[in-house]
This record gives sequence, structure tokens and C-alpha cells, in this order.
Amino acid sequence: MRVRVPAKINLLLHVGPLRADGYHEIATVLQAVSLYDVVTAAPASGLTCTVTGEGADLVPAGQGNLAVTAAGLLARRAGRRPDVALTVEKSIPVAAGLAGGSADAAGALVACDALWGLGMERSELLGLAAELGSDVPFSLHGGTALGTGRGERLAEVMARGSYSWVLGFASEGLSTPTVYRERDRQPRSTSAGPEAVLAALRAADARALGAALHNDLQAPALRLRPALRRVLDAGAELGAVGGIVSGSGPTVALLARDQSAATALAASLAGLGLCRGVRVAHGPVSGARVVPG
Ligand code: C5P
Repeated sequence: MRVRVPAKINLLLHVGPLRADGYHEIATVLQAVSLYDVVTAAPASGLTCTVTGEGADLVPAGQGNLAVTAAGLLARRAGRRPDVALTVEKSIPVAAGLAGGSADAAGALVACDALWGLGMERSELLGLAAELGSDVPFSLHGGTALGTGRGERLAEVMARGSYSWVLGFASEGLSTPTVYRERDRQPRSTSAGPEAVLAALRAADARALGAALHNDLQAPALRLRPALRRVLDAGAELGAVGGIVSGSGPTVALLARDQSAATALAASLAGLGLCRGVRVAHGPVSGARVVPG
């Protein structure tokens, strides 16, 4: 069973207070974009996982690998042995603010559900996903959605159109808890609600969306990685209609007017040598899905 799972970008991320359970109350608008990890599940006796591709050396092979944890959790819930050989082919960089680890967990849930013939309800899989991590439900869901709670409670949003993104990857990842802690060191300011982002999505208006992008974790990520500011500035100079640090960073997502503008922007950005890698992606795309054949 081969499952393709997209990366996500936060179009909006409001961070509220730190809760007693160590998570922050957030409100976020998420969009799944066409940069995919592929998770394969094959029959085996025992549970193994092989990781290849982008940043594979940074992903733990056993304990701590979210795909392995996901397969184990699903097997326990189904009352069966976790017999599966997982492979994860990574294109989503690790610790990049793109929910790559969450994508692998969602991929393992869908792949093992199919391999073991469990036929779990979508709502049941979403429940398991929320136990695995705040972004895992969205990796299953895909599209464009509003996330509340710690990000795991999803509501559909009315989104029209397709958006062309240029993703600038950094050479070193950022730890999500570190960025949240940095955020908590500074007094909180109140930022606007999701209305402007939601209105732009309803209108399929890339310019309005670019102007409305907002991430409360951007300032702390920039304090930890001041060089990211140069990528955002370069995007604006090169004609991007908006730019934002995705999630806890350090990936910078630049929004282009359309697909051909994104191709040109990506080439110019790559030429500046500010990023380890540059990719064009479009969104929204579907969440974790079995690849036919
Ligand atoms: O849910 P997940 O395991 O992906 O979260 C990783 C870490 O990010 C948490 O342990 C927490 O430190 C931080 N986090 C947070 N508030 C959220 C989501 C994540 O503080 N809403």
C-alpha cells in the first residue's frame, strides 16, 4: 500500500495562552501543498521502518519515528499485532515547519488501515491522528481548514482557487517547542482574526491572501534565525504577493501571483543562494491518500 501525504503551510497562526498540558491554544488556517512524502506498508512479521530521501538521516528509525508510533497505535486500537514493513520516502524537509513528521504519521495510519483491511471510519482515524500530534489530523484531512484547540480540531473553510507557492528551505531545522518557548519570552500582542484570510480564500484572491498572511511564530523564529528575514525581503523585491515563515519555521513560503510567476520567482530566489533549496508547490491538495496501482 503506497500513500502520498502533503506538506502544510499555515496561512494564519494565532498563538494564545500556554495551557496546563504544555500546549498553546491556537487558531490557524492550514493549506496542504503539493510537496509529498510517500509512505509504503508491506506485509512483514514485526514492525520495521526504512526512511529515504530528504533529511532521512535526521529521522529516527525506531522509537521517536512518528510513522512507527502511528502503526503501533493503530494496531493496539484494532487489537492486532503491528506486523508491517514501513518505508518512508521523504521530500518534505525535517523540522521545517511543514509538518513532515505529521505527514509520515498520517501516511502510516492510512497505509496500515488499508494493508490490514481494517476499514476504519474517517472520524476514528482523525481521533488517532490527534493523539499522535497536533498537525496529524490536518495531514489526513488536506485541503484548506481552520484548526483550533492545539491545532487538531478542524473545521472546513470555503476556499476557492489554487495558489502558487515558492518554498525556501533552510540548511538547519528549528525545533517547534523552542520556537513556542521563544514566543512566550515576549509579551503577547493581539493580532487580527482570521476574517481577512478567509475572505481572500472565498474570493480566490491571491493578492488579498498575500496581504493577510500572518504568523505569531514568525517573530520568534526570526529572532532565532535572523537570516530568514533576507529570504522574506528577497521575496518581496522579486514580486511575491506575500511571504511568511511557515509554522514554527524555518521554511519561508512566498505566494506568487500565478504559476508562471512562481516559476520565475523560484529561479531568481535560487540564484541568490539564500536558501538550501527552493521548490514550487501549489495548494490546496488532498490529504493522505492511497496511490492507485
Ligand atoms: O503536537 P506536537 O507533538 O506536534 O507538538 C510538538 C510541540 O510543539 C509540543 O510539545 C509543544 O511544545 C509545541 N506546541 C505547542 N502548542 C501547540 C502545538 C505544539 O506548544 N498548539
